[in-house]
Amino acid sequence: MNLKHKLQHPIFATLAQVAEKHNYPTFIVGGFVRDLLLQRPNKDIDIVVEGNGIEFAKLVADELYDVKGLSVFKNFGTAMIKLDDLELEFVGARKESYRRESRKPIVEDGTIKEDQERRDFTINAMSISLNQVDFGELIDPFNGQKHLQEGLIITPLPPDQTYSDDPLRMLRAMRFASQLHFKVDDASFESIKKNKDRLSIVSEERIATELNKIMESPQPSVGLELLFLSEIMKIILPEVDALQGVDEIDGQTHKDNFYHTIQVVDNTAETSDNLWLRWAALLHDIGKPPTKRFDQNVGWTFHGHEMRGAKMVPRIFKRLKLPLKDTLNYVKELVYLSSRPAALTKDIVSDSAVRRLLNDAGDKIDDLMLLVEADITSKNKERVKRYKNNFKEVRVKLKEIEEKDQVRNFQPPVTGEEIMTTFKIKPGREIGVLKSAIKEAILEGEIPNEKEAAFKFMIKKGEELGLKA
Ligand code: CTP
Repeated sequence: MNLKHKLQHPIFATLAQVAEKHNYPTFIVGGFVRDLLLQRPNKDIDIVVEGNGIEFAKLVADELYDVKGLSVFKNFGTAMIKLDDLELEFVGARKESYRRESRKPIVEDGTIKEDQERRDFTINAMSISLNQVDFGELIDPFNGQKHLQEGLIITPLPPDQTYSDDPLRMLRAMRFASQLHFKVDDASFESIKKNKDRLSIVSEERIATELNKIMESPQPSVGLELLFLSEIMKIILPEVDALQGVDEIDGQTHKDNFYHTIQVVDNTAETSDNLWLRWAALLHDIGKPPTKRFDQNVGWTFHGHEMRGAKMVPRIFKRLKLPLKDTLNYVKELVYLSSRPAALTKDIVSDSAVRRLLNDAGDKIDDLMLLVEADITSKNKERVKRYKNNFKEVRVKLKEIEEKDQVRNFQPPVTGEEIMTTFKIKPGREIGVLKSAIKEAILEGEIPNEKEAAFKFMIKKGEELGLKA
């Protein structure tokens, strides 16, 4: 198969010219070739030459009169050229297993064939010639093209070897399955199950990168279920793994919270691209296993699971080296608030309850509503309809109250300074007491969120405390 017609960008002609002039057998390899065949956009082009990759990259940069755009990573034996929005990475063909981040010095004495067979999957082990004799020819020694059509993730060498070369590939298999909606070959999956403990030598950062790619894929449940079935979930996210299972006492069961959870993640993926909203969905029920109780009268309960779950989030983020501070807080708070809107639909919704929710959720309110709507996974159509309508009502109410009271990002209508000057007092306990009394009165709806009303209220409350205006 010749793909010349797909290599329209002038850089490919330049690469071919340099290859010819300086006698370097040169190939495009890996993800770019895969994505070209799948018609997926990809701006990262990996170039493999038989010979010294850095030397070749320098010759290309000279040819482009653009030595500025060249970066050399001597320790990795690689070089990079940025051109327009493309990133070209150059490396010499090697006999050893290929890993982009590997710090081991590489020995560039391989042929393109050897280089291809040490790559992770057949769909990632295809190359395209940039040499004059067969420019554009697809070189596909392991049937990658066929596997692309069949939707199969399969290793070029026996799976035990490919995975032991780099155990991260076990996660990559599931990530590609999730991104492309492919199946992991049975023998590969067996090998992954057998070798899963080898993941312990992989850094948390690399694990998190793959996990996030699964979470960013169109239907993350594909990868999440594979993680669970291979028992890798137990190793990297035991809190999520523990969600699986259904207990039965006195004929009463509860739902399988793992399968529920991955469905919730898929549902959030349908309404939002926000990775961290998806994480909140993944973690929203993790407080359930540790709070699960059986009560003779009411059946299964998970009292306080939101608070317990929220408290578990920071440990997970630290362990996986996920971003802390704002991102962590966002996920933690969504987990904490994840049952609040549902509680609002149980009775007649009071204004004060809506005001409190708005105040607690702040700018996260819209995402919280997406999360709770995604949380509806019942198979009972009637029930789904009812819940959805309830949340619609909550949304209407939220809008009304926000327009009226503006408590979403609550700013105290009376400042501490004003309290001090009014009562001629120094900083002290009373200021805090008065400020929270004002806020409470606003949230409860006793007074409107307005300066004049709040001021009057403050004088009255102050006097009750024995202060004089
Ligand atoms: N590769 C590999 N083993 C790894 C990592 C990478 O064999 N552990 C090879 C594969 O041939 C892969 C190529 O290196 O196609 C580039 O890797 P990378 O940029 O990580 O992934 P892509 O396949 O390009 O996919 P994406 O850009 O979606 O991450």
